[in-house]
Amino acid sequence: MTTPDHRIATLTGIQPTGELHLGNYAGAIRPLARLAADERRDVYVFVADLHALNGHPAPAVLADRTQRLAAALLACGLDRPNVHVYRQSRVPAIARLAALLSPVTSKGLMNRAHAYKAAVAANAEAGRDQDHGINMGLYGYPVLMAADILGLDADEVPVGADQAQHLEIAVDLAQQFARTYGGEVLRAPRALITEEVATLPGLDGHKMSKSYGNTIPLMAEPDVTKATIRRIVTDSTPPEQPKDPDACTVVALLRAFADDATVHEVEARYRAGGIGYGETKALLADVVERHVSPLRHRYQQSRAEPAALDERLVEGERLAGRRADQVLARAMTAMGL
Ligand code: TRP
Repeated sequence: MTTPDHRIATLTGIQPTGELHLGNYAGAIRPLARLAADERRDVYVFVADLHALNGHPAPAVLADRTQRLAAALLACGLDRPNVHVYRQSRVPAIARLAALLSPVTSKGLMNRAHAYKAAVAANAEAGRDQDHGINMGLYGYPVLMAADILGLDADEVPVGADQAQHLEIAVDLAQQFARTYGGEVLRAPRALITEEVATLPGLDGHKMSKSYGNTIPLMAEPDVTKATIRRIVTDSTPPEQPKDPDACTVVALLRAFADDATVHEVEARYRAGGIGYGETKALLADVVERHVSPLRHRYQQSRAEPAALDERLVEGERLAGRRADQVLARAMTAMGL
């Protein structure tokens, strides 16, 4: 499959679940933009709007989040000819492939999926029925995700460590399909697990995540970002005392956005004593603003031109759709449909 002229198909999806934050950017979007800088890759990146339905967002909210996420992706270095951005729901072959994968998916495999198990455990903890509030979209999440991946003939899928099991399930389903219907139909992908260093801490020092409510927004105005950064939790060591830079959330965030010289200087001053958290936070706010301002500028421009954004997405959908239609046709033929 890797003939010299074979282009690498890199694919990932992001759920439109809320405002993008620095953790999404450093952990997912920026690494993807770096992969996309290699011209030998075709990058397929989609807004996982079907997956988002499991949380029952209000329709207008989902529509708005979808547009914002698409605009943000393009603004963050993915506006390149070899990158194809699309909405999952607008590539119908994906949902159709998910329907074809269901019969080769054993229920036991879904029972073992982490997200479902976590929901069941939370119910047990709360003394509720084990399947309380769990819909088939959540239960079958890994099937649709496998269809996202297998449907686009993806070679590699960059994801965070929390998605590693979903990738294994996608490979499992490709293999199960091959055992049942032959091996030339679905291409098993390779996971590219995002490095640990790309995972940012949030305001409270735990992993930055919307579900922990500890995020720093990516596209907010500078004064909002600055105020949020001031809320980062630090200890009460006074400025003049030496501090451990490795124990400080502000330094960890600085490492993700500042140049090496700046980081080294701050680390040295922490060890020597004589720098306060207020100063480091102000520095972080400056560094983040310098990094983010061109992205925010492009984002706002794109938000002001929804028709142009839509055109760009439709283009991505046409391309992704052509590719997925071919996979779907192979699968249908193999299955006797
Ligand atoms: N499950 C992923 C997440 O929550 C999003 C996603 C959906 C995805 N489909 C995908 C990621 C396909 C990679 C490939 O982060």
